[in-house]
Amino acid sequence: MAIHGINMFLLCTIALYVIACVASATAYKEGRVVLGYFPVQRTVSDIPWQSLTHANIAFAYANDSGNITFVGDVVNSTMSSEQNARALISAGQKNGVKMLVAVGGQGNFSNHLATALSSPDSQSAFLSNAVSFVKDYNLDGIDIDWEYPKDLDDAQTLLSTLQGTRNALDKSFGQGKKLLTITLYNHPYLGPDL
Ligand SMILES: *[C@@H]1O[C@H](CO)[C@@H](O)[C@H](O)[C@H]1NC(C)=O
Ligand SMILES: *[C@@H]1O[C@H](CO)[C@@H](O)[C@H](O)[C@H]1NC(C)=O
Ligand SMILES: *[C@@H]1O[C@H](CO)[C@@H](O)[C@H](O)[C@H]1NC(C)=O
Ligand SMILES: *[C@@H]1O[C@H](CO)[C@@H](O)[C@H](O)[C@H]1NC(C)=O
Repeated sequence: MAIHGINMFLLCTIALYVIACVASATAYKEGRVVLGYFPVQRTVSDIPWQSLTHANIAFAYANDSGNITFVGDVVNSTMSSEQNARALISAGQKNGVKMLVAVGGQGNFSNHLATALSSPDSQSAFLSNAVSFVKDYNLDGIDIDWEYPKDLDDAQTLLSTLQGTRNALDKSFGQGKKLLTITLYNHPYLGPDL
């Protein structure tokens, strides 16, 4: 009886603790955006869905012609990055998290993205591929992660990319239905190697 009582007490304490944790995770999200970047290689169970409102799957690769794909190592011998991305997106959405793809990222991913965006033909291919990609993966939006525009020409290119992406998304999915976000660097221009 005593043991039973202790067990009941413990169970209740654990149950209350779990409810309190979930409640506090939900409470601090209230009215805020809590966004995480997750590599496309992460497994569904790695991600604290309860604590998030938005997640960016990072990073999709845009090649010089503006084609967009998930590349990189397979998660394990049975699942590709692409299959894993689909699993992440559907798990996030089931948990009420808005799922976006972050295109670009560090190093050569952004170098190729910059090349694609800088010529009108490949920029327009990028825009239509972005729409196909969002449709294909059933995403809630797209994050442009160009690290980093380095001069005024690049800034102009970023602006036309954002305008073009907004228009393309609105035209295909309805006005404001899909999210468009960017990663900004809150410093002045520091030089071409930064
Ligand atoms: C980009 O990817 C597409 C699709 O795989 C391919 O047809 C195209 O040749 C690639 N462009 C470059 C410059 O690699
Ligand atoms: C380029 O990428 C898009 C989106 O991922 C895809 O739908 C399309 O078929 C690709 N184009 C080519 C030429 O491979
Ligand atoms: C490997 O992929 C399969 C899906 O094909 C999945 O069920 C399994 O959990 C994955 N294993 C690991 C360690 O990620
Ligand atoms: C990026 O660069 C690394 C190292 O130079 C190379 O191994 C890799 O294939 C490149 N990836 C892409 C997507 O260009």
